[in-house]
Amino acid sequence: MNSAIRWPSEVPDDQVPLDVRSVTKRFRRRGRGQSQPGPGGRRRAYHTAVNSVSFRMRPQEIYGVIGANGSGKSTLIRVLSTLIIPDEGDVLIFGRDALHSPASVRPLLNRVSADPSFFRAMSALENLLFYGRAYGIAGPLVRQRSLDLLTRLGLEHEARQPMTELSRGQQQKVAVARAFLTAPRLMLLDEPTTGLDPRSKRTVQSFISDVRRDGVAILLTTHDMEEADQLCDRLAFLAGGRIVAEGTSEELRAHVAGSTTRKADDVDMEDVFMAFTGRSIEEDEEEPESREELQDDTA
Ligand SMILES: Nc1ncnc2c1ncn2[C@@H]1O[C@H](COP(=O)(O)OP(=O)(O)O)[C@@H](O)[C@H]1O
Ligand SMILES: [Mg+2]
Repeated sequence: MNSAIRWPSEVPDDQVPLDVRSVTKRFRRRGRGQSQPGPGGRRRAYHTAVNSVSFRMRPQEIYGVIGANGSGKSTLIRVLSTLIIPDEGDVLIFGRDALHSPASVRPLLNRVSADPSFFRAMSALENLLFYGRAYGIAGPLVRQRSLDLLTRLGLEHEARQPMTELSRGQQQKVAVARAFLTAPRLMLLDEPTTGLDPRSKRTVQSFISDVRRDGVAILLTTHDMEEADQLCDRLAFLAGGRIVAEGTSEELRAHVAGSTTRKADDVDMEDVFMAFTGRSIEEDEEEPESREELQDDTA
């Protein structure tokens, strides 16, 4: 079934897919009194969305970045996919310098954003054909790959329906299929299952496990602790833009159990998050702040 997908051969299977070194990304707050704090005001001119983040993925790993809304997940993904430039740090993708030569890494990676956009009047298949051809994949091959991917994601019957007739979950699956068309070796998935019904969630999760077996390294973000626990080989907790813990779910649970009288089996991921951040994932959501007040320096 995977015959339609052929990976670019130029990266060895044992190469580190992603090496993130002290990456920091700040956004400037618009219209604020620059760096001096105002009278009684604690607000600074900059907001640090991603703060000295370092980690290294292993070949064919599913690596989960867990964090509340506003913890910096999407900003991190946008930096790693070369869409925005960090203020500090380095990113190596299969040993290539993503910040200084983004064109060299783009063929190796792809991203699914948390809020994908499509040509809404076109069908799922047409969206994939358009995208695939734009990426230079030959017509017959792109059709074969598109149908294969849509089938693997359980959308064989919806492939020819306009996007407007698909549910949000189905649209999210089309976004996943589209991103895999280019046969990336590193896939960055920003909350791929948020908002999906339980069945679609399971389909997407098992698709992710399958493609890993095909040799793709996957970084995904989530705030679903169960998903993180079951799907990911290793996890990193992101809180306020910083990684506060990293390890396998067993390691993280054992660490928390070790500091209490509980057994590791009785500790769940929510407890682990609480132990490392001092808050539950819901409490960790940052106070809402109008997007209009913030601006992207790299824009
Ligand atoms: N383009 C932007 N301009 C200004 N601030 C931003 C921008 N994108 C994100 N932020 C801010 O950076 C922080 C992290 O956001 P984000 O990476 O979207 O978090 P998450 O994906 O974990 O919800 C938030 O405070 C958010 O408001
Ligand atoms: Mg996000």
